[in-house]
Amino acid sequence: MSVVIVTGSAGYIGGQTVLQLKDAGHEVYGIDRRHPPKHMLDVTNRFMLQDFASDAALSWIIQKQPDAIVHCAGTSLVGPSMKDPSEYYNNNMVKTLKLVDVVKTSMPRSRFIFSSSAATYGRPIGDSCLESNQCMPLSPYGESKLMIDIILESYHKAHNFNYVSFRYFNACGADPLGRHGQEPGATHIIARVLESLRDDKEFTLYGDNYRTNDGTCVRDYVHVDDIARAHLLALDTTIPAGIYNLGSNTGTSCKEIIAAAERITGKKLKVAIGTRRGGDPATLTASAGKFNKLADWRHYNLNDIIQHAWKWTSNVR
Ligand SMILES: NC(=O)c1ccc[n+]([C@@H]2O[C@H](COP(=O)([O-])OP(=O)(O)OC[C@H]3O[C@@H](n4cnc5c(N)ncnc54)[C@H](O)[C@@H]3O)[C@@H](O)[C@H]2O)c1
Repeated sequence: MSVVIVTGSAGYIGGQTVLQLKDAGHEVYGIDRRHPPKHMLDVTNRFMLQDFASDAALSWIIQKQPDAIVHCAGTSLVGPSMKDPSEYYNNNMVKTLKLVDVVKTSMPRSRFIFSSSAATYGRPIGDSCLESNQCMPLSPYGESKLMIDIILESYHKAHNFNYVSFRYFNACGADPLGRHGQEPGATHIIARVLESLRDDKEFTLYGDNYRTNDGTCVRDYVHVDDIARAHLLALDTTIPAGIYNLGSNTGTSCKEIIAAAERITGKKLKVAIGTRRGGDPATLTASAGKFNKLADWRHYNLNDIIQHAWKWTSNVR
């Protein structure tokens, strides 16, 4: 059994990670600056309502001397980061650097598992993104995640800092047992499509004139429970320090998502075509071989993702 601290434990990915860690018998402590949703109350061994970079939270972390910290806390929307870059540089970069320095000094053997993002890549160089590609993020959000990836690698070289950074592609789906999922109003496409189908409301598709087969953006969709499993597997320190993509090696367009959601729910979506959003590349898919070679982490496909998300969306309002 390991002692693990999860920051952002009240959120979507942090919450799913807490559930998997608890299911596996670990001692899990959560930190978030907002209260967990009702269904996540009392899941952690203890929860601290604090900014993860506050003195109180940092002292608590030092006192716990965890085997690992899963750092999911962050502000994570591309569009808002273009309008308010300071919030993203501060919350995602400045505060995380403070946490990383505390880990380096006060618990140098702890493993630091970071929620990085596919947004670090920007416009991919080839068909799909490899961890070794040069990164050219298109938004302050992507830049803030890339800055931390760079810092983690420098600290690893200089201080043997024990980190794993996961660049998630599009996290989606819900807990297969129905215990947790995205909160109502989440901006991710699958959540938006399913809520629109449930409520019989119009769905806005942001741009249908991209240079892709059907004109809509192509993304790589990964089940949130698979992401949580990757975190669990990364507790094993035989997984070498470094940056790993978490993706499926497959691209799915927005129109293909809509078609799959209509098939699974048996409902027809009303679609309005909106303008493109700033910071959205046409295609962003992972080359995920690096982590696939080390760990059996991906158990679910797109059908599972939509089925689990639909079960969650149908029950939550
Ligand atoms: N959801 C995705 O598709 C996706 C993709 C790539 C990367 N990520 C990254 O994964 C992480 C988790 O994403 P999510 O989808 O679960 O987001 P989320 O918004 O559901 O959860 C993030 C949580 O972090 C908390 N938080 C933010 N700043 C904090 C702070 N300073 N102190 C304490 N708590 C703080 C929020 O209150 C929230 O509960 C984020 O860092 C995000 O950037 C997400």
